[in-house]
Order: sequence, then C-alpha cells, then structure tokens
Amino acid sequence: MGKFLVAFFSAGGVTKQVSSKLASAIGADLFEIEPEQKYTSADLNWQDKNSRSSVEMNDKNSRPAIASHIDNISEYSHVFVGFPVWWYREPSIIDTFMESYDFSGITVVPFCTSGGSGIGNSGENMKALAKDANVISGRRFTGSVSEGELKEWANEVI
Ligand SMILES: Cc1cc2nc3c(=O)[nH]c(=O)nc-3n(C[C@H](O)[C@H](O)[C@H](O)COP(=O)(O)O)c2cc1C
Repeated sequence: MGKFLVAFFSAGGVTKQVSSKLASAIGADLFEIEPEQKYTSADLNWQDKNSRSSVEMNDKNSRPAIASHIDNISEYSHVFVGFPVWWYREPSIIDTFMESYDFSGITVVPFCTSGGSGIGNSGENMKALAKDANVISGRRFTGSVSEGELKEWANEVI
C-alpha cells in the first residue's frame, strides 16, 4: 500500500473542494499550492488580455512563485496534482510546482476542474517539466463529483 498526497492549486475554491473530497476518499495527505502573490479577481479576468493570468498564460516560461513547500515528497508513491483549467491547460503555477521537486519513483496523477474544457495536454506538459516523474493521464471533474466517484477513479490508478 502506497502513501498518497493530493497537491492542488485553486483560485476560486472549486478545485479545493474536489481535492479535499479526493484526499478524504483515499486517505491522502492534502497540500495547497499557494501562490506567493495571491490572485485577485482582476488577475483572473480572462477577458482582459493584460490581466495577470492572461499575461502568465501567454508566456510558456512564466513560473509564478509558490509560498509553500513539501519537505518529504519522496515518501509518497502517488502525488495527485489538482488545478483549474486555464486557457485549455494547467496554470503556470503548476509548471512551477512540477519543476520544484524530484519526482523520481513517484506516480503523478493530474486532475482538474473547468468550465467545460477537458484536461487537454496538461499531463504531457507536466511530464515534460518533470522528466523523472511517471505522469499518468489525468481527468476532469465537476465541483459536485462525489467522494465515491473519486474513490472509484483513484482506485484505477493507485
Ligand atoms: C484565467 C482563467 C482561465 C480559464 N480558462 C478556462 C478554459 O480554457 N476552459 C474552461 O473550461 N474553463 C476555464 N476557466 C474556468 C475554470 O477552469 C473553472 O471555473 C474552475 O473550476 C475554477 O477552479 P477553482 O475555483 O479551483 O479556481 C478559466 C478560469 C480562469 C480564471
């Protein structure tokens, strides 16, 4: 039996809710990927091409700083990484997260929430940033997903 971590970034709370349910469903530890500089609602305005999120997502090299750190990541067999879809992919802060650790020997399982888009190429992007990780294909959930559904999905990958 492995040890599981659910690490998530959530700007509006939906991914946080799903992450808490997943952690409780599979007995995982929970870790919030907190930006050093929190996103304001103006930052999140996707209709403004000059908003912080638009600028970051337009730059593949953008790496927003993370305020928190996991000291014992090597203890985990599986790290579930949750995020909201931004512009059809993982937010840049997830790229920062993937580059921040040595994931060798760890299975990384992406999952997301969104307004309707699928997880897209997020898994491939994440794999490219953490070459030692075994990144498996991820899934999108709605905020109302049940613990039971999450458990069933997680059991297929752990
Ligand atoms: C900057 C930004 C970009 C977004 N881009 C997409 C998108 O491409 N496709 C989509 O379905 N939803 C998109 N959304 C909606 C979020 O993915 C969705 O509301 C998500 O559940 C929010 O999760 P959170 O509350 O954990 O932050 C976007 C939201 C923001 C703020």
